[in-house]
Amino acid sequence: MALWGGRFKEAAQDSVREFTQSISYDKRLYKYDIMGSKAHAAMLAEAGIIPESSAKAIAEELDRIEKRIEKGDFTFSAELEDIHMHIESELISKLGDDGARVHTARSRNDQVNLDIRLYLRDETMNIARKIRLLQKALVEKAEEHKTTIMPGFTHLQHAQPVLFAHHLLAYAEMFERDIGRLLDARKRLNVLTLGSGAIAGTTLPIRRESVQKRLGFPEISRNSMDAVASRDFTCEVLAALAIFAMNVSRLSEDMILWMSQEFSFVMLPDAFCTGSSLMPQKKNPDIAEISRGKTGRIYGSLMSILTICKGLPLTYNRDLQEDKEGLFDAIDTVNGILSVFPPMIAGLAANKEKMLEAASDPGLLATDLAERLVRKGVPFRTAHHRVGALVRFAGERNRKLNELTMEEMKSVIPEFDESMKDVFQSPVGAVEGRDIFGATGYRQVASQLEFWKKNLEKDPA
Ligand code: ARG
Repeated sequence: MALWGGRFKEAAQDSVREFTQSISYDKRLYKYDIMGSKAHAAMLAEAGIIPESSAKAIAEELDRIEKRIEKGDFTFSAELEDIHMHIESELISKLGDDGARVHTARSRNDQVNLDIRLYLRDETMNIARKIRLLQKALVEKAEEHKTTIMPGFTHLQHAQPVLFAHHLLAYAEMFERDIGRLLDARKRLNVLTLGSGAIAGTTLPIRRESVQKRLGFPEISRNSMDAVASRDFTCEVLAALAIFAMNVSRLSEDMILWMSQEFSFVMLPDAFCTGSSLMPQKKNPDIAEISRGKTGRIYGSLMSILTICKGLPLTYNRDLQEDKEGLFDAIDTVNGILSVFPPMIAGLAANKEKMLEAASDPGLLATDLAERLVRKGVPFRTAHHRVGALVRFAGERNRKLNELTMEEMKSVIPEFDESMKDVFQSPVGAVEGRDIFGATGYRQVASQLEFWKKNLEKDPA
């Protein structure tokens, strides 16, 4: 009979046990369940609710259970439903009455809430630190390419020349905000909910501050009903992971496009690509493609938890057991992405000649001419119009902007003078000229790199 079997005449059918169990996936919370039970039992003894000797026996047995689970020497079965009941039954079977005291003033409702919070407190920090390593790979690659010029794109059309480093650092910025979101969610979930009981607290004189101190929580939940019903912290973590995955997916898309024969801007290392079973010549950017694809399942997990929670009356409902698989899957998926992405970026080779060639169309410098005219006092809209007319003039004659003569220039743009002749000669000047904070100019990108090198030394915590 199950631990809750007192009021039941019949045991559950196998299919029901199988359907209601969560042990197959919540066993991964064992470490946190044990940590919570140890703190809880120690507090119960300290408050005089259970004998000191029981708490000691419970702590020692919990250590043994933990080691056995780690060694794979612990049997899990659907009959015992979840990780909480597995560990409690084992305590009872090994310790008798001492073990039967551990669940005093506690419910699985507050217990599972505690376990997930402890788990996420670790995982959000681990992931934040791994995202740092991805940023590091991007910053190092940017350092390598602080003078490499490429075309910047809007609408996937050549827009203006930019530094490759500037493009790479855009991702470092995005990932910085991802770290911020994860750690912000972590602050809100770092709250002790144990002590809320099933819904309303307990009549026993437990000491929540003692458990708080033992488990290192900065705060204690103020409302037991909110505590056992809450999964918004899971929603927040999943939302942060979904946005991170979205950002990785955009980086993936850039890699995939740039490695295509049409672009040929980059080559990813062999060790991070795969071949085709049929076409011998193929080298495919599968890591980037799989990451882009995996983003979908993380969005799925976010949609799942939002949907699970939306119709639930307060407080705990068993629907909430469905919170875990999607969460674990998203955490595993993100950890997987973070195990391959940093070394892939580190091994990326850029084809500088190809990038420069693509950025060398003088058409990309049209804005620069308009801005030169502005310096001469021409209103921007007029300058824009004149340069537009020049682009058409050259196009109609099948010539490039840098192939027009001074006379031709002047015939379309009366304000054009000698000092503007060099504007279409090379994209270098266009990059150099963008020397304001946040822009792609050499000096600016160099100082951004300095910022990043300092920032990356800091632990996200
Ligand atoms: N396995 C359950 C879960 O993950 C634990 C809480 C069950 N509580 C209950 N009253 N049945 O949510």
